[in-house]
Amino acid sequence: MRIDIITLFPELLQSPFEVSILKRAITSGIAEVHFHDLRMYSKHKQRQIDDYPFGGGAGMVMMIEPIDLCIQTLKKERKYDAIIYLTPDGKRLKQNQANHFSTLENIIMLCGHYKGVDQRVRDHLITHELSIGDFVLSGGELAAAVLCDCIIRLIPGVLGDESSALTDSFQDGLLAPPIYTRPAEYKGWEVPEILTSGNTPKVNEWRDEKSLERTKKLRPDLLK
Ligand code: ADE
Repeated sequence: MRIDIITLFPELLQSPFEVSILKRAITSGIAEVHFHDLRMYSKHKQRQIDDYPFGGGAGMVMMIEPIDLCIQTLKKERKYDAIIYLTPDGKRLKQNQANHFSTLENIIMLCGHYKGVDQRVRDHLITHELSIGDFVLSGGELAAAVLCDCIIRLIPGVLGDESSALTDSFQDGLLAPPIYTRPAEYKGWEVPEILTSGNTPKVNEWRDEKSLERTKKLRPDLLK
């Protein structure tokens, strides 16, 4: 998979790809991530990329031309399966959408700033608009990093034990069950006995039960 991220602040995006699972995915060649500095596509002398909104009002708007130039430059090189704009008023990102994105070859992510992008970018250049939650970040970069992380870890071969992605919260519409490790007793706080019993069918039954119980308590909306 190849991901091209269009951003005004490439340096904001470096570190998530330099450690742990994402780093491994990149060094093993399973995923490629490229950053494109939007200012490089500005035709203005000062490399301006935003302007005042037509009709007035507070805040600046990212202009269509540099974004279009950057996307067209990338599209000349390869076909893209998705061009995603990260924005708080996009569709809320869900695990099933991440599963789908993880099967794609080439993805562009566009990070917004200021008041956002000229609406014509959204109408004509983008295929998906995604939000990572009902809150506003100062830009789309951290949202793009979140999206990259949840997509890349799902590509076969990225996680050591591939089955572990399947037991994540949300994969079956439920939260994951509680987990424990050694010691079996700490300060008098004990691990549920069933987990140390060695009875795998019973353990699985317990985990299913706890998943449901936890979901009912913490995220009843998932059961609707
Ligand atoms: N940009 C700013 N806030 C965002 C959010 N919540 N999700 C995606 N992109 C954003």
